[in-house]
Amino acid sequence: MPRTILATSALPYANGPIHLGHLVEYIQTDIWTRFQRLRGHETYYVCAEDTHGTPIMLKARSEGISPEQLIQRIEVEHRRDFSDFHIAFDNYHSTHSEENRYFSETIYQRLLEKGHIEKRTITQAFDPVENMFLPDRFIRGTCPKCGAADQNGDSCESCGATYSPTDIKDPVSVISGASPVEKESEHFFVRLSDFEEMLKNWTGSGRLQPEVRNKLNEWFDTGLQDWDISRDAPYFGFEIPDAPGKYFYVWLDAPIGYMASFKNLCQKKGLDFDTFWSTDSEVELYHFVGKDILYFHTLFWPAMLQGGNFRTPTAVFTHGFLTINGQKMSKSRGTFITARDYLEHLDPDYLRYYFAAKLNNRVEDLDFHLDDFVTRVNSDLIGKIVNIASRCAGFINKRFKGQLSASVVNPELFDQFTAAHNTICDAYENREFSRAVREIMAWADSANQYINQAQPWVVAKEKDKEDELQAICSLGLNLFRILMIWLAPIVPGLAARSAEFLQCPIGTGTPLVSVSQPLISHQIGPFKRLMDRIEPSKAAAIMENLKVTDTTQDGENAPGHLSDEPIADQISISDFGKIDLRVALVKNAETVEGADKLIKLTLDLGEEIREVFAGIKNAYDPEQLIGRKVVMVANLAPRKMRFGVSNGMVLAASGKNDIGGVFVLSPDDGAEPGMPVR
Ligand code: 2FM
Ligand code: ZN
Repeated sequence: MPRTILATSALPYANGPIHLGHLVEYIQTDIWTRFQRLRGHETYYVCAEDTHGTPIMLKARSEGISPEQLIQRIEVEHRRDFSDFHIAFDNYHSTHSEENRYFSETIYQRLLEKGHIEKRTITQAFDPVENMFLPDRFIRGTCPKCGAADQNGDSCESCGATYSPTDIKDPVSVISGASPVEKESEHFFVRLSDFEEMLKNWTGSGRLQPEVRNKLNEWFDTGLQDWDISRDAPYFGFEIPDAPGKYFYVWLDAPIGYMASFKNLCQKKGLDFDTFWSTDSEVELYHFVGKDILYFHTLFWPAMLQGGNFRTPTAVFTHGFLTINGQKMSKSRGTFITARDYLEHLDPDYLRYYFAAKLNNRVEDLDFHLDDFVTRVNSDLIGKIVNIASRCAGFINKRFKGQLSASVVNPELFDQFTAAHNTICDAYENREFSRAVREIMAWADSANQYINQAQPWVVAKEKDKEDELQAICSLGLNLFRILMIWLAPIVPGLAARSAEFLQCPIGTGTPLVSVSQPLISHQIGPFKRLMDRIEPSKAAAIMENLKVTDTTQDGENAPGHLSDEPIADQISISDFGKIDLRVALVKNAETVEGADKLIKLTLDLGEEIREVFAGIKNAYDPEQLIGRKVVMVANLAPRKMRFGVSNGMVLAASGKNDIGGVFVLSPDDGAEPGMPVR
């Protein structure tokens, strides 16, 4: 029975790069939707940029651009990353779109008309300098339970306590450094408890993985809280109709972005939107999401759809997080790997294969282990799959002008392969990609065993066995073709190159069931390398980009080498604000008698002259420095040294013990002495 399927992946925030953690989900959804298309089902995969909210507004502000400019730039980057990873969206749109405004307003109006929205005045932290309410993550202060300084607005990393941001001691706004004040404001709440009955029915009917259903039952037991869907100006988002200065919270319009993107596709393709979204729709609607955004997708979202008179999702498919070498992805460990870092060194199909080999339909975390990744890809994709083609192609091309034989020499073996088809399709259908990969690789082993036993390289030496040689290699290539048809949703790049080599469609333009029809008397193309082994050094390079210059350990590293030294613990913007960096002009520079490394600098700070001792003599002659502008820490406490008092510090990059050199920092032309640096 042909089905109609609409699938989505979570919308990436338009304020940062796509990284390997994101890609687990996009690759998972892409494999599944490619599989469904190849099965002959009408399938659509849509996504969009998630563009609204305070962090995006503030990031744009910090870059001195408008939010619209920021989201436009990030969208270009995201689209390029997705396309280079072969993520085949049918449509990619934006939540900052007219379609999304329309559906957000429609759903809101319908909820309002049915009495599901309540207005209440609440008290919140307010930044009196920036004139804005502060989301919890923009407040830091002292933990009210254990007294640890510089903790999050809602939880303490030191003692694990959670609290309301109004309880935190000595709070500061991360944005301005000012102490927040409390201020009242009217907010709009969706009464989620109105939907409790409906949600219990919805979740109880096999739409969720068992562990997700258990989580939901816990939430039902604790009681469904009303959901605050409004935010005050300044905010980047959609203004709420008839409520000037109030905006829809980003999480209201984000999932509606799924509908908006689909509507946009309908306009391009002439599809009927209502067939997919009306309450009596028979289309299957699936959302792939990470476990951190379950609440939004299994409670708020179905409730909004129901309240907005739209159909609810057929199922939500939840996956776990990605770890790198067994640990959380981390910038300081150099394991925050962006899609671009990866693509600069490696073929996207390697990662798609590795993730598929580890993905199942449970909510388990998935580990990207670098050595395991290299071994697995090299041994499976190159050692097993590509190897079959390269063992057979040469004989067919050189001895038979690229012509495959007129019959299948070992029909039993061919039939055994095709008989496995349904098992492999079941695994795909149930999102048990690791099982599909295991099965496919077991059949790749069988194909290689067949070639080992048939020994075409021995047969090739015997003059009267031409037909046998052609038959063995033809079967080898037919088995390779079946394996590639099965693998096509996972490795589309390799599938396309294989299709070109075999001169037959693989992965596009042909249904999966074509596995049962062997290529007979068929002309293949010239054999080119289908895929290279992963060089371990290239794999390691994807982790190198974020490694930082070693400034704290003894100089065992070779000159110029990057080190593993993690970036220091996070500090708040107010901590950073304590450091007063200024442009200074070097008026004079001289060596210091008796000091090996020091140069005494006389610095013009605009309003005053300072004397600073800098340990840069190994790298600079004093004369080179005179007249140059530098950056200095202007409010560093004076330090008494053997040769005098140093009143500040000049910034320079260097390795520990100056290995790799010392590089004094200078502003671009135009900066004036005394100008603050931030
Ligand atoms: O968690 C996130 O990254 C969100 N941008 C996901 C939104 S998914 C959907 F609801 F829009
Ligand atoms: Zn604490």
